[in-house]
Amino acid sequence: MCYEITVRPSLLPCMDTASIAQTPRRILITGGAGFIGSNFVRYWHDRDRRDRIVVLDALTYAGNLANLADLEGDDNFRFVQGNICDRPLIEKLLRKEAIDTIVHFAAESHVDRSILGPDAFVQTNIIGTFTLLEAFRHHWNSLPATPRPLFLHVSTDEVYGSLNPEDPPFSETTPYAPNSPYSASKASSDHFARAYFHTYNVPTIITNCSNNYGPYHFPEKLIPLMCINILLGKPLPVYGDGQNVRDWLYVKDHCRALDCAIERGKPGETYNIGGNNEVKNIDLVRMLCRLMDELAGDLPLRPSEELITFVKDRAGHDRRYAIDASKIQSDLGWQPSVTVEEGLRKTVQWYLENEDWWKPLLSEEYRAYYQKVYN
Ligand code: NAD
Ligand code: TYD
Repeated sequence: MCYEITVRPSLLPCMDTASIAQTPRRILITGGAGFIGSNFVRYWHDRDRRDRIVVLDALTYAGNLANLADLEGDDNFRFVQGNICDRPLIEKLLRKEAIDTIVHFAAESHVDRSILGPDAFVQTNIIGTFTLLEAFRHHWNSLPATPRPLFLHVSTDEVYGSLNPEDPPFSETTPYAPNSPYSASKASSDHFARAYFHTYNVPTIITNCSNNYGPYHFPEKLIPLMCINILLGKPLPVYGDGQNVRDWLYVKDHCRALDCAIERGKPGETYNIGGNNEVKNIDLVRMLCRLMDELAGDLPLRPSEELITFVKDRAGHDRRYAIDASKIQSDLGWQPSVTVEEGLRKTVQWYLENEDWWKPLLSEEYRAYYQKVYN
């Protein structure tokens, strides 16, 4: 296939400059009202306003239209509330909107919830992904003039399992060894995305990234939970001994990496995306406490570190995740640009300035869930 390419320096999002394609895309973004999805929608919209963006999102507890409020009224943007398991709806959307690109974020995404109730994870992450792939399989090659159709499946490093301190980081050839219902469901969906390329030639790409953080992160995840609990003077629950290690990827760096995968990635390939920022949970929480003490005005308790409380460990808690991102760097020219110190400062500042966003999320349902996990 031959692509016509042009270079528009002002829009170049990645390091290498060779390939921003000319024809506007018609892109379906699933889960676009969630954390990473909404950051990506905004990123893509700001990057190329000629592209048609359709967001499909069921608005579960994690989906929030406030995440997309600034795009409302834009002619090239459409929001559709719906479920990725609804095949007739998806077929209609693909056809009517002449979609050539799917960027698939929609998922149940929280490990603790998957331990409490795995059913929704099987339904959305496995059946939902399968439903999208099936619909796209029958749709993509019937498009008359689509130069670069793509199904980008956004996945996680958790499919690779857990590392010991001395192990090398996960690479694209690390065998899958998922340990939680969440990661098992994501692993299954990755295998379907891979199989649809090999069996049906559906142009799929899989990306496996580490822990994202940044604006619009739902406050059940470690970083926003800690920020908000510090502001409310509530305990900061650290699971187990706090020595578990995660690699932290600033969400805007992730969006740039996905851009590179869309524009330059090779169908059938997998790309690992990491922040090069391995940190022990307890160290991360202490960094957040220090930032809050420095940046927040009134706090119920200072120093915030006094709120740290070690609680019962998560069942099957993976000890360490780390990513070798050399493939996406060498093949697509991407590398992370935000250190964890810079990213946490920006994130803390965002939560301090956006109380109107997070306050309404501390609903009864959220409180009930919080009680279940921490008691
Ligand atoms: P999120 O939970 O913040 O958002 C998920 C979105 O999907 C929500 O808007 C929700 O309403 C929507 N959704 C859920 N079920 C749906 C369904 N059946 N039909 C349609 N929409 C549905 O998740 P996130 O953190 O933004 O993660 C996005 C993707 O990235 C997920 O696939 C996740 O597995 C992957 N990922 C996330 C991280 C991370 O650190 N957050 C790391 C690696 C990979
Ligand atoms: P989380 O944000 O849930 O992401 P994931 O499980 O996908 O890595 O958790 C990040 C790490 O923080 C993980 O090791 C579990 C730990 N953790 C806590 O110690 N306390 C908490 O309240 C939460 C939510 C997570």
